[in-house]
Amino acid sequence: MFRIAHISDLHVLSRTNAEWRSMLFNKRMTGYANTLLRRGRVHRREFLIAVLQAVSTAADHVVITGDITNLALESEYQDARSLLGGVAENVEVTVVPGNHDIYLPPIFHERHFAHHFGDFLESDLPELALDLPPGPFPCVKLRGPVAIVALSSGVPRPPFVAAGLLGDPQLDALAKVLAHPEVVRRTAVVLVHHPPVDGRRRIAQLRDGLVDAAAFRRTLAPLRRGLVLFGHVHKRTYSALATAAGSVNVISASGAALDHPNPSVRAGFNVYEIGGDGSVESIRAQVLDASGLAFHDEAIAGRME
Ligand SMILES: [Fe+2]
Repeated sequence: MFRIAHISDLHVLSRTNAEWRSMLFNKRMTGYANTLLRRGRVHRREFLIAVLQAVSTAADHVVITGDITNLALESEYQDARSLLGGVAENVEVTVVPGNHDIYLPPIFHERHFAHHFGDFLESDLPELALDLPPGPFPCVKLRGPVAIVALSSGVPRPPFVAAGLLGDPQLDALAKVLAHPEVVRRTAVVLVHHPPVDGRRRIAQLRDGLVDAAAFRRTLAPLRRGLVLFGHVHKRTYSALATAAGSVNVISASGAALDHPNPSVRAGFNVYEIGGDGSVESIRAQVLDASGLAFHDEAIAGRME
């Protein structure tokens, strides 16, 4: 049995006053406004620590679907790197970037994400990876019955736009990855920050969805089974996506530090168990109690057990 723990949207916050001050006077105001707009959603440091400690011993591999930092500030990157480094002492970690990790064009082009998290992005099929500013994507890790395929949908955007884009070159590379014999004989576990399935109007998708989600779904056509994991929506959700060859499980994790009365939103992590033959044996969540002291097992909203 291969066990994957999935966390997302850590939103590690800068705690230095100087950075907060400088942020108020530059374009990162967008992110600041975003944080205020979401003030009903409180990120608790102690919840994040509890989740990171729990995933360290709960899985064979930890996957993180983006928005690791809150405003892509250097202190946030350093803090997040140190927290994830602690997890990686116990269990292998794979990450993808979210819109909050990229933000402004300089953050993207100066390769902050690749600089801090490059250790978590060493591909077994480097010849199929593109040299993108956030790192080598698609990044493929062949582990037992699974092929973990990490994608980058984080791109710099104008103020108040949080949408993601995979882009045709990365989708072409993904098609080659999914056709590789070492991937074909395993169960694919695809990681992306933005939602692959989005029933909202196009205008909403262009504002904060995955702009090329339809092309992404078409690229998944050869998958007979598998998992497509994402974040961004700050809620645990499940849907089944029919492909030409079968069906894949499309699942989001909530924010790993969120304090919220709704257990589908409150901090925790998802756990997926893959059998030795590649079958998906279970899809569940470990949700932190409101006290923040203990986890309990829960189904994921939308999934029939
Ligand atoms: Fe996001």
